[in-house]
Amino acid sequence: MAESKAKEAEFLPEDVGTDDCLTSYTYIYSPDLLDQVAFITGGGSGIGLRIAEIFMHGCDTIISSRNLDKLKEAAKKLSAVSGRRCLPLCVDVRQPDSIAAAVDEALAQFGRIDILINAAGNFLCPASALSFNGFKTVLEIDTLGTFNTSKLLYEKWFKDHGGNIVNISATLQYRGQALQVHAGSAKAANAMTKHLAVEWGPNGVRVNAVAPGPISGTEGYRKLGPIGEAAGVFQSIPLQRAGNKTEMAHCVLFLASRASSYTTGAILVADGGAWLTSANDVSTMLGIVSSKSAKL
Ligand code: COA
Repeated sequence: MAESKAKEAEFLPEDVGTDDCLTSYTYIYSPDLLDQVAFITGGGSGIGLRIAEIFMHGCDTIISSRNLDKLKEAAKKLSAVSGRRCLPLCVDVRQPDSIAAAVDEALAQFGRIDILINAAGNFLCPASALSFNGFKTVLEIDTLGTFNTSKLLYEKWFKDHGGNIVNISATLQYRGQALQVHAGSAKAANAMTKHLAVEWGPNGVRVNAVAPGPISGTEGYRKLGPIGEAAGVFQSIPLQRAGNKTEMAHCVLFLASRASSYTTGAILVADGGAWLTSANDVSTMLGIVSSKSAKL
């Protein structure tokens, strides 16, 4: 047991808990696996930033969100570690006009876009305390935002040139995770991954998703991870630990690259088996959340 744990640790990719770049990186795929251009929504922090970093080993990127200052800072860091181009663009995925302008700008600057990564926004909140606007906001960002961005990129480039879409999904909707009615409802629209895979496959567009579990170094984990750890939450996960951002980026890289060339309409669950076994009763979850703050 101790030996197998040590072996697992040896192969665990490195990560840092902040929104900084990695201090070192060992390729697990060929360094030139991607020789393309990727448009990443939410690439300024968390998992999105790590995806941009791992992609820039062979790939130029466009990172986009509502916070241009944060994006500019991230783009500077990403270009410095990779030597690749990283273009920060202000986008609100709820506003099709803002996406269209960013896609036009990206095409003008790079001449192509091969990959789209659709990120998401979330927080923990019991349904009884969630406002109507809170529910609507997460659906607008996660569900409508994914559709808006995918459709605009399809119309402007993928339809005629092919492309590759990877959506960042979740496992919340599989069993009705406590405190996540808004995000689970939004992610149930994951059916979109399959619908678009079916409709756009003939145009050379693959559409897949990664469904992460608890991931260290993210905003949610910074708020809840240490409390979850103290409460023994990770012991209930088959792999008995949280995942890290580099591990998620590797899953996304696999789906976005030719390594998965015959895969479309797939949801790759990357949660250490968490959704199969972890706590899902409201009182336990509320206990963890309320020991930190009423609003997370
Ligand atoms: N708990 C309960 N409700 C919340 C909330 C929380 N933590 N955060 C936002 N809301 C509600 C707000 O109260 C508001 O509803 P109201 O007008 O009835 O009060 C509504 O959601 C919109 O809030 P606002 O702050 O204007 O939303 P936004 O569009 O700026 O941002 C998120 C929405 C989801 C992106 C934001 O909550 C966020 O930054 N989350 C953490 C970052 C993140 O998502 N990381 C990725 C994790 S997968």
